[in-house]
Amino acid sequence: MGEINRRDFLKNATKGTVGLVTLSILPLGLAACNDKEQKMDTSAMANLGPLSEIEKGPFPKKVEYVASIKDAWVTQEQKGFVYVAKDEVKQELLFMSPICTHLGCTANDADEQQKAEGMTFFCPCHGGEYDELGNNIGGPPPRPLDIFQPVIQDGNVYIAVLSPIERTSKS
Ligand code: FES
Repeated sequence: MGEINRRDFLKNATKGTVGLVTLSILPLGLAACNDKEQKMDTSAMANLGPLSEIEKGPFPKKVEYVASIKDAWVTQEQKGFVYVAKDEVKQELLFMSPICTHLGCTANDADEQQKAEGMTFFCPCHGGEYDELGNNIGGPPPRPLDIFQPVIQDGNVYIAVLSPIERTSKS
């Protein structure tokens, strides 16, 4: 598991820009090619595990991670998770933050009744509603769930957990 040094994070994030653009949100069919791209520094990222496992449905699904965040002399373990969804139209995997875009509570799995109403994720704080691709479909959230740009290296999927990307419109 990579160690994240806050001071180095921006440097690494910037360095990774070329790789992130190249890899983009992973088109499933291009997974094999991505391993042949130039290597990038994933030490400041969280490892979500093997792509071969992440590609398996059913979607959306929860994928947990543990990252070590280093701040000066203190290293803290940070546990978290992302929702991984599959956009069937674009044939892309989406790595979504569970943090509600209203005021930052955690969006949970919707219950059966909510699912019957078309909801996939529900934020209990103020009734935020999201569909399976994280689009805001009800309640106060102003935009879809943020996403992470995945980086594929040596068969594993990495994300920069401190650097979610805002989406302004529906997927
Ligand atoms: S924080 Fe999620 S709806 Fe307000």
